[in-house]
Amino acid sequence: MSPDRSTVEQQQGTSDGELRQSAGENGASGPSTLSVTDNRTGKSYELPIEDGTLRATDLRQIKVDPDEFGLMSYDPAYMNTASCRSAITYIDGDAGILQHRGYPIEQLCEHSSYLEVAYLLINGKLPTQAELTDWVDEITIHTFVHENVKDFMQGFRYDANPMGMLVASVGALSTFYPDANKIKEERVRAIQIIRLLAKMPTLAAFAFRHNMGQPYVYPDNDLEYAGNFLGMMYKMTELKYRPDPRLARALDVLFILHADHEQNASTSAVRSVGSTQVDPYSAVAAGVAALYGPLHGGANEQALRMLKRIETVENIPAFLEGVKAGNERLMGFGHRVYKNYDPRARIIRKYLDDVFEVRGKSPLLDVATELEKRALDDEYFTSRKLYPNVDFYSGLIYEALGLPVAMFPVMFAIGRTSGWIAQWKELVEDPEQKIARPRQIYTGDRDLDYVPIEQRG
Ligand code: CMC
Repeated sequence: MSPDRSTVEQQQGTSDGELRQSAGENGASGPSTLSVTDNRTGKSYELPIEDGTLRATDLRQIKVDPDEFGLMSYDPAYMNTASCRSAITYIDGDAGILQHRGYPIEQLCEHSSYLEVAYLLINGKLPTQAELTDWVDEITIHTFVHENVKDFMQGFRYDANPMGMLVASVGALSTFYPDANKIKEERVRAIQIIRLLAKMPTLAAFAFRHNMGQPYVYPDNDLEYAGNFLGMMYKMTELKYRPDPRLARALDVLFILHADHEQNASTSAVRSVGSTQVDPYSAVAAGVAALYGPLHGGANEQALRMLKRIETVENIPAFLEGVKAGNERLMGFGHRVYKNYDPRARIIRKYLDDVFEVRGKSPLLDVATELEKRALDDEYFTSRKLYPNVDFYSGLIYEALGLPVAMFPVMFAIGRTSGWIAQWKELVEDPEQKIARPRQIYTGDRDLDYVPIEQRG
């Protein structure tokens, strides 16, 4: 954005408070402005529009009294506020399009690996073979965690929620790497990025083994990223864990599918905390905490519970009637952004067959398939543009992999780590970003006199 945007022309306007968008010198595709008339004063303002967006601070010049703060915008839940410029992920929710650095998610899932996608998200381009080899090697040799992390993990209760353990242990990594707070130094940033990608699966697997009451399994650096994770989860007495390639590939694709989704709640948390210039472990811990919430990382668990409750295909019509009557929601359907089939759901569906081939088919697959078909044939769902989202089928895969539901958001967190880091790096390198500090509309009392406790009724 040009620095002179704040020099906005003021003019006398009409008194009807009109909002009018005018094309700029270059016509409809050139620069454009919005004319606003403040009916309180009769003054008009011409506000620049760039990329279909007004700059909120341009509103500040609109005021009745020169001493007042100026106009603000009120936007709880950031329903219509862009908080950054980002070149990482593009979503067209109406068309069901998801692209990372311009590459469609379908192509990345077909041809790429999770670590290559992580490189793409973080570095902005696909790596050459040499770059990819170095990147994977670097991540592979950083998968171990300090032995004290194990002791720290041991301190949790046997039934501690693995997401709670992950929030704490990722945050704790900052204490092992005190240099990590030198976030202005590119070299320091680079090594933390490698460590975060490398150690996240190790922490997640330790949390799982802790819940199972089983000894923690060290990483096996002969294995690829997803296969190593499966080994740390499931290795027992065998000398060498050999992951089934179909399971490892399905898991790798799940990590790709969860890698980034632009400014969702957890990514916004990472950016907001990262804007304080804290180290990236603390910022990512904030992302994991946001993902812990059932509205974000927990919907796939709800979808699986729903399928279990429906139990058989025969029960679907009655269930859908209940949904249409407003008794409950069809979990794994609908999305704030996608008003079309979530492209991630379509891809997951393909990998279900591979996983079931190894693990045996879940009887819930028939229920899910039929439920999807009936819902997509039903005017209630089509008129509201409710389609399956990523969570409709992912729970079935996780269950087939032998994971308890408490681990579902942990799997999401492993994949999303690459996106969180990419967004954190973009934030740190963006000269326009400052500490995130929203405004408020104060609605409470003012100027009260303190009342001694004995005089309070
Ligand atoms: N089942 C039944 N009706 C629904 C559903 C659903 N899953 N989702 C939305 N609707 C209806 C809703 O009742 C409303 O109907 P009406 O206009 O008659 O009042 C209409 O559709 C619009 O719903 P909304 O709540 O305004 O939509 P939203 O954009 O605020 O909500 C959502 C998006 C994902 C929270 C919602 O669709 C939902 O609750 N889905 C189920 C939970 C779920 O699957 N969440 C995972 C999202 S994907 C995870 C990720 O990308 O990170």
